[in-house]
Amino acid sequence: MTETIFNDTATPLTLLATRRSGKPRDLVGPGPDAAQLDQMIGIAARTPDHGKLAPWRFVVIDDRDALSQLIVQAYRAERPQAARAELDSLDQFARQAPALVVVLSSPSLTSHIPLWEQELSAGAATMNLLHAAHAMGFAGGWLTGWPSVSPAVRDALGDAHEKIAGFVFIGTPGRPLDERPRPDMARIVSHWPKAG
Ligand SMILES: Cc1cc2nc3c(=O)[nH]c(=O)nc-3n(C[C@H](O)[C@H](O)[C@H](O)COP(=O)(O)O)c2cc1C
Repeated sequence: MTETIFNDTATPLTLLATRRSGKPRDLVGPGPDAAQLDQMIGIAARTPDHGKLAPWRFVVIDDRDALSQLIVQAYRAERPQAARAELDSLDQFARQAPALVVVLSSPSLTSHIPLWEQELSAGAATMNLLHAAHAMGFAGGWLTGWPSVSPAVRDALGDAHEKIAGFVFIGTPGRPLDERPRPDMARIVSHWPKAG
């Protein structure tokens, strides 16, 4: 049986065709150093963006203790009866993988470019950050979850008009990646107009 190769950097096409996220909890060192992170973010900033608004921002998380405290405190403020296990799982969320970049959707509210288009661009920027991580030999994982919709977490990382598009965890897979089911192409691809 031939083993599937994931994130095969041999050519741009093989990389795209074999792209596979890492599970953030399984990502270990080595992670990117500061210069590599800067390079990844520079690549992510090269994203389609109607109107040249750059409607996204990147927050590099340098202190995981502080992030854990922020998320756990926000959760406790919202749910004072939270069980220890819930708080532990949020603490673990904050500490995954060697590197973490939070991508914020940061739309211009005065532009004529629709908000929807600006938010799509933030998703694309997040995807490009993942691609850059994989192209540089790392693996990334894009998570949202409770912290991404907490106004208190958002306020600490960004401004009131911004939204957390994703927590992008980056490192090296600590265990082999495995394939996940991929969509049935016949269901998602159609031609228009329909043949006779
Ligand atoms: C906006 C967004 C949010 C996501 N949030 C989570 C999440 O909170 N938890 C999770 O297990 N996967 C989440 N995922 C899915 C993973 O990032 C990943 O895409 C998925 O495991 C598929 O793997 P692949 O990237 O190799 O296709 C999210 C994906 C997107 C696009």
